[in-house]
Amino acid sequence: MIRVKADELRQMYLAFFASKGHAVISGSSLIPENDPTVLFTTAGMHPLVPYLLGEPHPAGRRLCDCQKCIRTGDIDSVGDTSHLTFFEMLGNWSLGDYFKEEAIAWSYEFLTARAYLAFDPATLHVTVFAGDRDAPRDEESVAIWRRLGIPERRIFALPKDDNWWGPAGQTGPCGPDTEMFVDTGKAACGPACRPGCGCGKFFEIWNDVFMQYEKKADGSFARLGQRNVDTGMGVERTVAMLQGRATVYETELFAPVMDELAASAGRRLDASAADAAAARIVADHLRSAVFIVGDAHGVTPGNLGRGYVLRRLIRRSVRFAKNLGLKEGFTTPIARRVIESYRHVYPELEANAARIVDELLKEEQRFEATLDRGLAELDKILGHMRARAQSTLPGRVAFRLFDTYGFPFEFTADICREQNIAVDRQGFDQAFEKHRAVSRQGADKSFKGGLADNSAATTRLHTATHLLHRALRIVLGEHVRQRGSNITPDRLRFDFSHPDRMTPAQIAEVEGLVNGQIARALPVAMETVSLEEAKRAGAVALFAVKYEEQVKVYRIGDFSAEVCGGPHVRNTRELGRFRIQKEESSGAGVRRIRAALEEAAGEGA
Ligand code: ALA
Repeated sequence: MIRVKADELRQMYLAFFASKGHAVISGSSLIPENDPTVLFTTAGMHPLVPYLLGEPHPAGRRLCDCQKCIRTGDIDSVGDTSHLTFFEMLGNWSLGDYFKEEAIAWSYEFLTARAYLAFDPATLHVTVFAGDRDAPRDEESVAIWRRLGIPERRIFALPKDDNWWGPAGQTGPCGPDTEMFVDTGKAACGPACRPGCGCGKFFEIWNDVFMQYEKKADGSFARLGQRNVDTGMGVERTVAMLQGRATVYETELFAPVMDELAASAGRRLDASAADAAAARIVADHLRSAVFIVGDAHGVTPGNLGRGYVLRRLIRRSVRFAKNLGLKEGFTTPIARRVIESYRHVYPELEANAARIVDELLKEEQRFEATLDRGLAELDKILGHMRARAQSTLPGRVAFRLFDTYGFPFEFTADICREQNIAVDRQGFDQAFEKHRAVSRQGADKSFKGGLADNSAATTRLHTATHLLHRALRIVLGEHVRQRGSNITPDRLRFDFSHPDRMTPAQIAEVEGLVNGQIARALPVAMETVSLEEAKRAGAVALFAVKYEEQVKVYRIGDFSAEVCGGPHVRNTRELGRFRIQKEESSGAGVRRIRAALEEAAGEGA
C-alpha cells in the first residue's frame, strides 16, 4: 500500500483531472456569497450552482477544485470513525460536457491506477440509484461499472435516501449518483451488511452525481437543459483508507491535534471508547471552529445563524473537554495545531491566527463561567424526572438552561439523550420566541435611580434602553449584564459586562435590531407578578437586589421582558430612530454605550 498524504492527494487529483482537460479553479469561502438559503458551503458544487443550471463558466465546461465544507447535519455521528463537521472535498465537474461514461471511467482510473491511488480493485464496492417514480433505475452506471470489472455482487442499488444528490429539501440541480466505498476488512455487521449500512465496514470516499434534473418548488423534477457531472471525494476519508487507518483521526491531518489532546489530558485517550469519542468530538469541533472563524468572511460566536452554529461547536467541545479533564484554555494549543497543519493550504488561517485563538478562548471562557452550575442544575432536574418516570424535558426548562447558563438547545438535548430523555423542541421555540425569561438583572432600582426625570424624551430613551439590553444579549451573548444606566432627555448611557471592544459590525447589528423592533411597532405592556413567578420565568440566583413581594415586568412585544419600575412608552413606534454614538470601556470587563433617538427620517413625524 502506498502511504499517500493529504498534500499529495490534493495535488494528484487536480493534476489527474487537468490531464483530462479540466481547468483547476480555486475553492470558495466557507460562507456562501449571494446565497441566503444556506449557512455554510456544504459541497464543492455549491458555488457552482448557477453554472450547473446553464450559465457559462469563464473557465470552461470542465472544472476541478478542492473545497472547504461544513456540514452539521451529522453532528451526532461525530465521534465515530468517519463523520466530520468540517472536511475538504475534491471535485470535478462537467457543465453540459461529458457524462456517466467518462465520469465513472475516470473515477475508476484515479482510484486504481498504479500512478494514482492504486487501491486494490477487489476492495471497491459501489452503489447506484435503484429508481422510483421520479427517475428510472440507473442501468447505465451499472453497465459501466461491470465493464470496468466490478462484479455484480459488489454493486448495490439503493433508493433516493442513499443515492440521489441535491440540495436537501430545496430547489436546485440534482440527480442520481453512484458512490464508491472501500472495504476496510472489518467483519460484516450481519447478513444485511452493505455499503451505507453505517457499521463502518465500508468507507464511502467518492460520489459521482449525474445532475440532469432540477427540483422545482412544487416538489417535481424537471429535466435540465444540460447534463452535468458533479463529483465529491472526501480528502480525510480517502487519506485514511490510503494509509490503512481505521479512522480519519489517525492521519497527519489530525495526529498533531490528537497528540496535543493526550498531552493536555496527561494520558492516552484511546483506551476507553468514551475517551476516544470525546477526543474525536473535541478535535473535530475545534477544527471546524478554526476554519469558520478563520475564513476570509469569518464569523464570531453568537445566538443567530452561523454564529450560533459556531457557538454550538465550541460549547459542545468544552463539555467533552471536561470529560477528558482538560483545563481552561485548552482551545488555544488545539487551534494552533490546526492552523499549523493547514496554513500552507489555507493561508487565511495564518493571517487570521490571532483572531481565531482569541475568539475560541473567549467563547470557551464565556461558557466555562456557567457550565458547571448549569450541568449541576440539569442533573438535579433529570434526577427529579427519573424519580417521577418522566421522559420529556419541557421546552421552557430547556429555554431556561439556555437563557441562564448559555446551553444551546442541542447541547441540552445531547445530555438528555444520553439518559433516554427527550426534549420538547416546540416548547423551547415558543419560549424562545416569547422571550419569557424576565431579565435577571435587578433593573428596577438602578433604573429608577438612573432616570434624570420623567419627561417624554427620557421615557422614550428608557424604553430604548430595554431594547438595547436585549439586542446586546442577542448579538454578543447571554453573558451581557446591565452594570449601570443613566438616562437624560437627550441621551442614554448603558454600562454592561462584556470583555471586548465591540466591532463596527456588532454595533451596526445591535442598532439594526433595535430599529427593527421600533419598525415593528411593538406594544409595551406592564404586568405585576409575584417575585416567585418572576423567578420561575427567569433566573433565580442572579437577582442581585432584594425585591418587594410583587414586581413589575415590562414586556416589549415578544422581544424583551424585564423587571423594571418604569415609566415606558406604550408602543415602540414612538421612539424614532435609534443611533449608537459611542462605544467605549468603562472599567475592566465593562463596556459603555452612549446612544440617542433621532427623528425617524422620511416619516414626517
Ligand atoms: N455534491 C456531491 C456530494 O456532496 C458530489 O456528495
